[in-house]
Amino acid sequence: MSKPVHAFDRSAVFAGNRALAIDHEAVALEVEQLLSGMTLEDQLDQLRGSQTAPIEGLYYAGGNADLGIPAFKMVDGPRGARAGEATAFPVAIARGASFDVLLERRIGIAIGLEVAAKGGNMVLAPTINLLRHPGWGRAQETYSEDPWLLGAMGLAFVCGAQNHVMTSPKHFAVNNQENTRFDMSADIADRVLHEVYLPHFKRCVQEGACASVMSAYNKVNGTYCGENAALLNDILRKDWGFKGFVESDWFLGTRSTAPALRAGLDVEMPAAYRFSDENIAQALDTGELDESDITAAARRVLHQKLAWRLDELPEVDPAVIECDEHRSLAREAAEKSLVLLKNDDLVLPLVDHSDLKIAVIGDLADTANLGDKGSSFVTSSEVVTPLAGITDLVQHAHVQFFAHDKELPDLSAYDVCLVFAGLSYRDEGEFIPTAQQETEGGELARGGDREALTLPARERQLIEAVVARTRDGTCTCKTVVVLEGGSAIEIREWVDYVDALLMAWYPGCEGGRAIASVLFGAVNPSGKLPVSFPRSVSQLNAWDVTALNVEHDLLHGYRYLDLHREVPEYAFGFGLSYTAFELSQLRLSSEAAELEIVVRVTNTGSRAGACVVQLYVSQRDSCVYRVPKELKGFGRVELEAGESADVLIALLPQELSYYDEEAGKWVLEACTYQFRIGSSSDDLPLEVFQRFDGAAWQSA
Ligand code: BGC
Repeated sequence: MSKPVHAFDRSAVFAGNRALAIDHEAVALEVEQLLSGMTLEDQLDQLRGSQTAPIEGLYYAGGNADLGIPAFKMVDGPRGARAGEATAFPVAIARGASFDVLLERRIGIAIGLEVAAKGGNMVLAPTINLLRHPGWGRAQETYSEDPWLLGAMGLAFVCGAQNHVMTSPKHFAVNNQENTRFDMSADIADRVLHEVYLPHFKRCVQEGACASVMSAYNKVNGTYCGENAALLNDILRKDWGFKGFVESDWFLGTRSTAPALRAGLDVEMPAAYRFSDENIAQALDTGELDESDITAAARRVLHQKLAWRLDELPEVDPAVIECDEHRSLAREAAEKSLVLLKNDDLVLPLVDHSDLKIAVIGDLADTANLGDKGSSFVTSSEVVTPLAGITDLVQHAHVQFFAHDKELPDLSAYDVCLVFAGLSYRDEGEFIPTAQQETEGGELARGGDREALTLPARERQLIEAVVARTRDGTCTCKTVVVLEGGSAIEIREWVDYVDALLMAWYPGCEGGRAIASVLFGAVNPSGKLPVSFPRSVSQLNAWDVTALNVEHDLLHGYRYLDLHREVPEYAFGFGLSYTAFELSQLRLSSEAAELEIVVRVTNTGSRAGACVVQLYVSQRDSCVYRVPKELKGFGRVELEAGESADVLIALLPQELSYYDEEAGKWVLEACTYQFRIGSSSDDLPLEVFQRFDGAAWQSA
């Protein structure tokens, strides 16, 4: 047996992140020198965007040619550069399903490079808001319901993108409902905030050294995030030591002048409104604001500008945009993100032979379905639809396409029907209730939250129409459903009547090829659910898309399902493969500074595949309330048939701490910890117990 595979290879994740090489002390001296030659007006100009609408996809802020100060040039976003045409990667939730941090780093590099090639120096990504409920309209933009997975993927993106440009993890913080995003308050205790809703931001700040953070539209505990001193000054800066700057979310993200600046918001985007000359002058006159507040914010902005040497960043050849390498990366990401949820009688993979008759059904098969049309929208010059992917790949089988249920043929003449159903930008997405959206006519889509998790009626009808034909007693045609959408979909009504189910998310510009490759077995599916799929929305925590005050507690997703002993349709972390894996020989060593968990993974099937080993931790005799279990590590490993590998998950003991609200600090409790390993949150065959006595660890 060779050396164990590290589940999280820190040096590989961090490689090339420019921010990690910054000499902050030297930069601070330069900044003071620059500031000493700046008037208050010059400083104020650093604190606001330059125009309301982007110019060729770029939002500018704070350029001053006379003083030699470069502008920020910001470009959205989380699934690719939103500036002209660019590589549309699968949405973040799909990439979350890959559980592949190094892949996410490479995607960060590619998006960063395309942003730079567009002339940008900062990407408005990643979105790392925790998916508290799968009905969130922007669920697709984030990676997971789980803070650990979210943190690992967000960090990987930041490190990758910061090989080329600055990043801005968003939206800080607790932004997880769309329709009321400009008004709602996330009401939350400190413990919940620190343990569930912030750890992923902390990783991007402390380990990834993200250059900036974007504040959220919503309120936290009654105070808008853009003027929330507890979040910006206290947690982000004092507690975490953030050296970057905070820019507001757009238009309604800055709610005040003096309160916002004093709370630690540095840059109003996209243009001056609350931070206009008049408003600032008035706030200075009334004494609400002090000149030193402006200088403090300008100092933070200039610090990053100088630290990043923005004016010296290399020009990037536009040929990188949508280059073959990026398109094949988009394809690899899509392949690794597809989650096989059901495969009765091993109906998949299909074998391409001349006797095989396939009906491809549903207009989504022939649609470029890349996700919502909000700020993360990306336009690619070529999008491979599933139908195109299938017809390109298939050499021998007969493929016929039927767009609607009205056109369905007699399915008994077919061996298999591939039904494409799901959601699109019409059903979910960023909520943009603006005149611009109203005037978009045919493309009108305000996005927003999903009240229900079931498919829209038209999609259900399609599946029902197919199932009515395939289940009529004489028909031997198999039914494979390929689902598209941005998070969990309720499928109970029809899932028992189909033979196979593949979750494809919004799979990006090469998605069609990836889907075809999985259906026909050229690629072995390896995606795992980054969000629990409930049997019914009633199994989850309450969800009200009109709510203006939303209580946040320690429970949501699999934590909530576990506590309430609800069996979901498909558990967090679940996903089938065309091969099988066996986990064995769990060992835990606690001699070093880190806890080291090693497990052997063997591919016991007959073909190569990837397994995602998952580690969940629970406490047995804790003095405080603990959720039933939490993901605390994972490792993706590719194995040939018959091959084995040892996977090593390293964990700092303090990562098992809880947040003590009274004391305002993290506490590593002396108690018994249960470490469980498996291939999904509801399949954890191996376990080991360790006791921490306050000083040392020993097996229990
Ligand atoms: C979104 C941000 C986005 C910004 C600029 C806002 O409405 O919430 O995520 O970066 O617009 O497009």
